[in-house]
Amino acid sequence: MPIDLRSDTVTRPTTAMRAAMAAAEVGDDVYAEDPTVNALEARAAALAGKEAAIYVASGTMANELAIRLHCEPGDEALMHAAAHPFHHESGAPAAIWGVTIRPIPGGRGRMDEEALALVLHPEIRHMSRQRLLCIENTHGFSGGAVLPLDHLDRVTAVARASSLATHMDGARVFNASVASGVPVRDFAARVDTISFCLSKGLGAPVGSCLCGPADLIRRARRHRHMLGGGWRQAGILAAAGLYALDHHVERLADDHRRARSLGEAIEASGAARLLEPIETNIVLFAAPGGPAPCDALQRRLAGRGVLVSRASPVVLRAVTHMDVDDFAIEKAGAAFLS
Ligand SMILES: Cc1ncc(COP(=O)(O)O)c(C=O)c1O
Repeated sequence: MPIDLRSDTVTRPTTAMRAAMAAAEVGDDVYAEDPTVNALEARAAALAGKEAAIYVASGTMANELAIRLHCEPGDEALMHAAAHPFHHESGAPAAIWGVTIRPIPGGRGRMDEEALALVLHPEIRHMSRQRLLCIENTHGFSGGAVLPLDHLDRVTAVARASSLATHMDGARVFNASVASGVPVRDFAARVDTISFCLSKGLGAPVGSCLCGPADLIRRARRHRHMLGGGWRQAGILAAAGLYALDHHVERLADDHRRARSLGEAIEASGAARLLEPIETNIVLFAAPGGPAPCDALQRRLAGRGVLVSRASPVVLRAVTHMDVDDFAIEKAGAAFLS
């Protein structure tokens, strides 16, 4: 088996998680009759300190629902220039909802506050209405950077002053919480809606939760149905999510420690340089010289049984997760030595 560091989505459910899935009580969730889904949604809402939550198929679906909840066709959502809905959701905001995106520059996943203030405008008939500020925490393209509370306070204050709603793409907000010691509900308190993924570092096979005010989550159920996302005995999957929340949160600290030690091995090897500080479970690196050397390094690592992904032609990415232990990280680090 290769050491698969392409993403933290590649984990397989553990034996204990599979047992919890097999034992799950289920019902028809479209009728709100699946007790395990209902339990997961109640748990998610409580963790986020919000009135309600909806369990959905993916982080993409959660983000897209949030965009629809806060925007109408023709409206504009503002987000970091490297945010997931802008780059990696197949153009869904425009294709599905008719929403345009205004990318805001900034380092370490933080929107530059001056740049944000400069693009905000009042409602004018010939401009798109600005309705939503999306914040990603941790920020994937910045190497899993944690957005601190003081930054969140400032950008959300700017957003609120312009009557924008706020959504946090917290696909990896549990990583942010474990790395910073800030409870998830404190991050969530800064925004109107927050989504988080169970199928990344938390190790569940499927699913994300979108949390927010009860009236918005009620509307989200309708929009999820439009996307074909109404599901039936989904409790089998929700059971994995509940198991993950019970057993796989604190262990994220191990992933973070392993990412740091992989980073040290990469730097020491001289084969590549780190592109961002390592705060959580994502290591971004590059071989000097541009796309061709990056390509060669990725292929060389694959030949040695270590899979990494390509964040761009000149950025390679390794992500630590439940299925890589200390021994695997040591082997992965050694694979960088020429
Ligand atoms: C920051 C972020 N948001 C959203 C998503 C989308 O999640 P999914 O792959 O479950 O659609 C991802 C996926 O990697 C992500 O990294």
